[in-house]
Amino acid sequence: MKSHHITPSALERELAEGEYIVSTTTPSGRITSVNDVLVAYSGYSRTELLGSQHNILRHPDMPRAVFWLAWDTLQAGEDFMGYIKNMSKDGGYYWVFSQIQPEYDKDGGVIGYRSVRRQPRRSAVAAASALYAEMLAAEQAVETRDAIAAGLAVLRRHLGAQGQSYEQMVAAL
Ligand SMILES: Cc1cc2nc3c(=O)[nH]c(=O)nc-3n(C[C@H](O)[C@H](O)[C@H](O)COP(=O)(O)O)c2cc1C
Repeated sequence: MKSHHITPSALERELAEGEYIVSTTTPSGRITSVNDVLVAYSGYSRTELLGSQHNILRHPDMPRAVFWLAWDTLQAGEDFMGYIKNMSKDGGYYWVFSQIQPEYDKDGGVIGYRSVRRQPRRSAVAAASALYAEMLAAEQAVETRDAIAAGLAVLRRHLGAQGQSYEQMVAAL
C-alpha cells in the first residue's frame, strides 16, 4: 500500500536519544519485522507494516536519488548510511539517521536487509533538508525517466564543492 493519499502535515516527531527504529525486509524490500518504536512513529499497526513495501514510510519530500543510491549501495554488498525523512500515517514526519545492511545466509547469499534508525543531529536535519529540497526540485524539473540522474547531479555537485565522498558528507553533517 502506498501512502499517496496522505496529506503531509507540519507535525514533526523527534526521536529520543537512545531510541532505535528497527525493521527487516526481504531482498526486494518487503517488510518482515518491525519493532514497537517503528509502530509508534509510523502510526501504522504491525499488521499494516508487515508484508508492505518500505515505501509505505516514504515522505514526498524525499528525492528519488537518495533511495536509488541506497539500493545501489546495498546491491553492491555494502552498508548504506543516510538521513531519511519519513511520513507517519497521519501525515506528520520524523527524520532518522538510517543504517541499512544486507543480511546473509551461511553460504553468503543475501536473505534480506536490516535497518536501524536513530536520532539525527539537528544540524544534520537542517543540512539534509536543504540539500534534499534542491535535489527534489531538480528531479521535478525533468521527465520522470531523468529524475534520478538530475537528483544525483545535484548531490555530486554538492559533494564536489565540498571535496567529499557521500560517506564523508553523511559522517560530517
Ligand atoms: C531495510 C530497508 C529499510 C528501508 N527504510 C526506509 C524508510 O525508513 N523510509 C523510506 O522511505 N524508504 C525506506 N527504504 C527504501 C524503500 O524500499 C524504497 O526504496 C523507498 O521508500 C522509495 O520508494 P519508491 O521508489 O517506491 O518511491 C528501506 C529499504 C530497506 C531495504
